[in-house]
Amino acid sequence: MPERIFIGVAWPYANGPLHLGHIAGCYLAADVFARYHRMHGNDVLMVSGSDSHGTPITIRAEQEGLTPLQVLERYHAGFLETWQRLGISFDLFTTTHTENHQRVVHDIFRKLYDQGYIYPATTLLAYCPDCRRFLPDRYVEGVCPHCGNPRARGDQCDACGRTLDPQDLVTPRCLLSGTTPEFRESEHLFLQLSAFQEPLLKWVEQQKHWRPNVLNFTRQFLKDGLKDRAITRDLSWGVPVPVEGYEEKRIYVWFEAVIGYLSAAVEWAQQQGAPERWQEFWKDPATRSYYFIGKDNIPFHTIIWPAMILAYGGGLNLPYDVPANEFLSLEGRKFSTSQNWALWVPDYLARYDPDPLRYLMSINMPESGDTDFSWAEFVRRNNEELVATYGNLVNRVLSFTFRNFGGVIPTPAALNAADQAMLDRARSALAEVDRLLSQCHFKAAIGQAFALAQESNRYLDARAPWKSLKANREDAATSLWTAMAAINCLKVALAPFLPFSSQKVHQFLGCAGHVESERWDFDWILAGVKPGQTLQHPENLYIKLEPQVAEEESRRLGVKV
Ligand code: MF3
Ligand code: ZN
Repeated sequence: MPERIFIGVAWPYANGPLHLGHIAGCYLAADVFARYHRMHGNDVLMVSGSDSHGTPITIRAEQEGLTPLQVLERYHAGFLETWQRLGISFDLFTTTHTENHQRVVHDIFRKLYDQGYIYPATTLLAYCPDCRRFLPDRYVEGVCPHCGNPRARGDQCDACGRTLDPQDLVTPRCLLSGTTPEFRESEHLFLQLSAFQEPLLKWVEQQKHWRPNVLNFTRQFLKDGLKDRAITRDLSWGVPVPVEGYEEKRIYVWFEAVIGYLSAAVEWAQQQGAPERWQEFWKDPATRSYYFIGKDNIPFHTIIWPAMILAYGGGLNLPYDVPANEFLSLEGRKFSTSQNWALWVPDYLARYDPDPLRYLMSINMPESGDTDFSWAEFVRRNNEELVATYGNLVNRVLSFTFRNFGGVIPTPAALNAADQAMLDRARSALAEVDRLLSQCHFKAAIGQAFALAQESNRYLDARAPWKSLKANREDAATSLWTAMAAINCLKVALAPFLPFSSQKVHQFLGCAGHVESERWDFDWILAGVKPGQTLQHPENLYIKLEPQVAEEESRRLGVKV
């Protein structure tokens, strides 16, 4: 029976291009997971979209002299291009600025309001006497009351991850003028999060399969006690509030953005011409929902969104897992857009192939701790692991066979013990990669696949078909066929990580169609290495990079263009 897997991926703010930190944070892991499940014949729906509202967009619009809509359209188009070129295979990547999204948000908002889970109250809002305006949460900075971080923002502290209100900050100041803001009373609508403290505690304690960082963070958050939060803002850009008297306000961006997971599924179903199909992914309790996010987004996905789902009460599925990644740094320093300390994905893709980046981001994924990207390591691993280990294995087996066996897969004779051991090893590696991927252990999974590539090289060195070719052609044929079986297995195990190169290997081996239609099944993989099948002329899978590349690229970093 195919399983049904819903994959929600964090919605990037459409206020700038994507950098490597975004990719390492959630997009690559989500894509690997989606491809893996699709290859198992499971029903996958992977959605996300541009987070279109809130101050991140209006700030950028002000800076660039554009309207918020122009900012959204510009960066949304850039995201779509990046997904396509990097091979991030969304079933739908939409925006939160659609009519459909607004309709779904209003439905949820009204239902919560009617049940009293959303209620009006006055709140204190930061007002800057210098700028003569109410300040958005992100315009207020100060000391975090929990951990003492001196640069906590009015919505969240990046050091300890807690969500904040501007009035929680010790010694707050306006980011624009540096002035201490006043707090003035204003009426807003509040989400009664406190009502969900107990149900969420119970639910979270059942999630033994969550990553320890996600589980611990969520437990601590609940232990601090859930406070009701204002979910409207004094803004004109965003989703209107469907309550009379709130015409001048908009729904808080976080409240409506998480609803995007549901509205995107509805939009996807409409596009499929099966408008009810979203329900399979949202209402069938057998469907598992995974949310791929960076660690700064944990509370919104393990507390606030689940609370909203419980409050809505329409039988919608709660998250099954929230495999949040930690952070990636760049050459030892935190990514900083304002200081231009970033490696922008479009810049990378203008100069290099997608798979080497996907490889490094997978083998070095910040899964259970922060990791670092450096150009020196990129060049080294590209050369040693992609070119010298995997690429070389494929190249020497296929070009040697191509030249000496008339361009077809040779017919093996009886396998000897070494051949059999090689096949057994490949079979168990495939099973191990399978198990690791099903549990979202991406780094370990790709590590196992590369260990198999190394062993295949050792096998080939030991069997040395180039030596036996003259004296014992059958023996050479047998070892080459066995090596091709290992390669065919690697092609499948690596396809979720390296889709572009796996497709090439698939074609070199003379297989028809798309590599993703292959089955994750060792006997099927063996059957795919058909004696007599015509090989395609093999080319290099990867390009060796000169050490100067690392120097040049490191020099380019931090330089304003
Ligand atoms: N735009 C947010 C960020 O970049 C993420 C939103 S995820 C969502 O941090 F689910 F809330 F949409
Ligand atoms: Zn803090």
